[in-house]
Formats: sequence, structure tokens, C-alpha cells
Amino acid sequence: MAPTLDTPLDLPCGARISNRLCKVALTEGLADPMNRATERLERLYRAWSLGGAGLVITGNVQVDRTHLERPGNVVVDGNGGLDRLRAYAAAGRTAGNHLWMQINHPGRQTSREMNAHPLAPSAVALDIPDDAFGPPREATEAEILDVIGRFARVARTARETGFSGVQIHAAHGYLISQFLSPIANRRADAWGGRLENRARLLLEIVAAVRGAVGRDFPVAVKLNSADFQAGGFTHEEAVRVARWLGEAGVDLLELSGGTYEQMVMVGAGEGAASAPAKESTRRREAYFLDHAALIKPQAQMPVMVTGGFRTRAGMMAALASGAADVIGLGRPMCTHTDLPQGLLNGALARVPAWENELRLAPGELPADAEAEMRLRVEALGKQGWFCLQLIRMGEGLAPDLTMSLTEALHAYAQSEARTAERLQLADHHI
Ligand SMILES: Cc1cc2nc3c(=O)[nH]c(=O)nc-3n(C[C@H](O)[C@H](O)[C@H](O)COP(=O)(O)O)c2cc1C
Repeated sequence: MAPTLDTPLDLPCGARISNRLCKVALTEGLADPMNRATERLERLYRAWSLGGAGLVITGNVQVDRTHLERPGNVVVDGNGGLDRLRAYAAAGRTAGNHLWMQINHPGRQTSREMNAHPLAPSAVALDIPDDAFGPPREATEAEILDVIGRFARVARTARETGFSGVQIHAAHGYLISQFLSPIANRRADAWGGRLENRARLLLEIVAAVRGAVGRDFPVAVKLNSADFQAGGFTHEEAVRVARWLGEAGVDLLELSGGTYEQMVMVGAGEGAASAPAKESTRRREAYFLDHAALIKPQAQMPVMVTGGFRTRAGMMAALASGAADVIGLGRPMCTHTDLPQGLLNGALARVPAWENELRLAPGELPADAEAEMRLRVEALGKQGWFCLQLIRMGEGLAPDLTMSLTEALHAYAQSEARTAERLQLADHHI
């Protein structure tokens, strides 16, 4: 019988997820000035735990304080705070759900203020009209091996502090995704060139993480179903990498897409129009479902699809089609933590899609601003809007649904700058 939203899912490692809904990774920015977990995270994750999703995944946790996705990231790199991580994990499992830590290294997608010369597969700068990112430098082999060891150590710490699984972030243009991309990875050694080499970092990290956590602990990967960039990581390559990940014993493959250069993961960017299917409204709702349908038969492991799901009917149809085993929910969970309850008990037919309501105020950009610039500023404003809601909820405030996109753009920039100023980085020689 086709699974429905409340059908449990058994993973290859032996763990069971109680239903098919997942609150996916959403960067919180709620760590303290030493990038340790806080009570604000506990508050937010307790709410998500009680919200009914069988699986809750943390926002990306970094493996190195000198490489932050944003200043308020949680980092596990010997900066202490293990008791706080324990409290965070306990709060996030209040309702008995799974809580997995997403582990990441941002590579070149880290701000210039944090790191003027970030680590990357090659010295190839991001191709975006934004000088927030410093020119990257090519990682040495020793640095690559160091990164692999860091992922394994963070995964072991996640298990020891009470998280019930880990997810390796190999999507969205961060370091592992940079290695997979022929645009960002121009290396001529064993870590670049043909796909086997570009995927080596990911596969070595998976092996090291598995070695660190043991056979009975869920290890997941978030992968782009494609980068949606000419010359980038292709859909055909994603199919091959998915097969290798299945052979490597990965428990759940989450499919997304895009990079900072092409923000299709949130339905923006030039590739957005080509990501969804042509034929049906149902398929158009979830950006990567068609790709998932082609990857799934090769994958040999359960697959989660994330991006665009907003109706119960769309979610049920995706499960029934066999293209997705788990439904990922991101932005809707930024304002309403209990949506999974409503979807599971049938009270909710659809979840909020704020991204469709938020628009830049007239005059926010010069009238002659290029369409691409307008899209990018709008995407950044929306990102800020969702991030600010998470910060509010972490502080015990209700989400502010009246906040405009223009307000969010400015308030978010200020909030991030304040967090960056407070960071205590002296010991880390940045
Ligand atoms: C505020 C915000 C924070 C995000 N943080 C992360 C993150 O830390 N890790 C990650 O893999 N994806 C992150 N994403 C992407 C989401 O996990 C998800 O792929 C995307 O929002 C599409 O799903 P949705 O349409 O349900 O929102 C973030 C998205 C938003 C809007």
C-alpha cells in the first residue's frame, strides 16, 4: 500500500521515523558569541519537536569557527559548550521525534568579514554581483583531510550529546557541493576532474562519519539534484552520486538544488523555471520532484524531497508516486512550528507560502535596476524575513507576520552585523 503522511519509515541503519514529515535545516543564527548552543535554540527546537514532524533537522552546524555560514552559527570545533549541546538535543527531542544535526563547511560561501580568503577546491570566486565574499584559495591536501576529520568529530559529538542522527550538507554551493561542481572545482589532482574525483570529498566524509558514529546511527546527505548552472553539477551526475551514496550505506538522501549563484532551492534564480515539471500543478508545487523520480530508482535508500511543498494533496501525491519517501518542509516552519500536526490529522489542507506575498516596496531599488538585481535583492529580503522570524521565536516572541520585505532587508542586515560584532574570535587568529 502507498505510504501516507503518518506511515512510519524504517531506515537502513535500523532506526524508525514515526511519520513522513521533516522540518528541514533552517539556519537559526542563535548561537552565543563563542558559537555555542543557547537557550534560544532550546526554545525553538522544543516548539518544533512538539509540532509533530517525525524528523527535525538542525540548521547547519559548522565544523570550523573560521568558516561560518553566518555569525550566529553553532560550531563544534573544540569551543566547549557540550552541556549546552546536550540541553539543545534534549529540547529538540521532547516529543520523541528524531533530531539530526546538519553538519557543514561553507567553503567560499562565507562572508569576507569572517574570512577574507576562504577555503575552496580552487581559487574561483563566486560569480555574483556582491563583494561580501572574499576571493577563495585552493585547499591543500592536508586541509582537505583536516575537513574530513572535522566532519567525523562533529558527528561523534552529535551522537554523544544526544542527537539521534546527522546530515552531511553536500548541497547549495557549500564546500562539498563546490567540490562536486566543475565550475568551482578546477583541480587536477585526485580531488578534481572526473566525477569520481569530485565526489571523493563527499564519499570520504560519509565513510569517516559512519566510522565515527557506528552502523546503527542515521547518517543522511543533502544533495543537489543539479546545480542548475551551465557547466555545473548536472542531474546525470547527481544520479551517479546518489547510487554511490546508497552503496556507502547512507540512510536518507535529501534532494534540493542550487547555490548562492543560482538560488533555485527557494524557487528563485534563472534555473527556477526549468526545475519544476511542465505537466501538472501537483508536480510544479515541489521544485525537485521530477528529478527525485529519476534519482530514486538508483538511490537504494529512502529519499526526501525538499522545496516548494505547500499542500497536503501535493505531499500525499508525492509519497504515493514513490518519488519521495519523506516530505521536507522549510519556510512554512519559520512562522508556524505545529504545521505537521495539522497535516497529519487532516485539519490543514495547505501551509503558508509567505514567499509569494512578500514584495519589495516601490522605490526600494532605482527604477532602472536590472531584473536580475531585483530578483536577488528580493530573495535576500525574503531570506532575512524568514531568519528574523526564527530569531523572534527563539527569543520567545510570536512571529511578526506584518513585517514588510523592505523592513526585513534592513533589520536583518543590522541584526547580523550586531551578531558579528559580538563574536569572540581572538583565539582563532582570523
Ligand atoms: C531561513 C532559511 C534558512 C535555511 N537554512 C538552511 C540550512 O541551514 N541548511 C540547508 O540545507 N538548507 C537551508 N535552507 C534551505 C531549506 O532547507 C530548504 O531547502 C528550502 O527552504 C526549500 O524548502 P521550502 O520550500 O519548504 O522552504 C534554508 C532556507 C531558509 C528559508
